[in-house]
Amino acid sequence: MMTNSKNNTKPKIVVCLGSSCFARGNDEIICVIEEYLLKNNYCDEVDLEISGSLCQECCADGPNVLVNGTIYNHADPCVLPDILKNLLPERNNIQNHNNNSQEQ
Ligand code: FES
Repeated sequence: MMTNSKNNTKPKIVVCLGSSCFARGNDEIICVIEEYLLKNNYCDEVDLEISGSLCQECCADGPNVLVNGTIYNHADPCVLPDILKNLLPERNNIQNHNNNSQEQ
């Protein structure tokens, strides 16, 4: 299991589903996150919290996503995979690379 080396906790992603963030696109953000976690087999290793209670007076900067304590304002579904790759390296690519190396 992947854990934070400082306190042995799972990486945590919190997606605000307050009405403002939802209207600004966090419903699409959730799909991007879930797809990434599933594709890279991280579903059991990440604490994904979908919450309508994150709203902390930053609605105008939404949609807001909190990744391991860092808030990402104006979260963009096109940029989010890069943020996730920094937190959780892609596994399928590593496996595919190894498979390709063995085939040569
Ligand atoms: S609705 Fe998301 S911060 Fe307010």
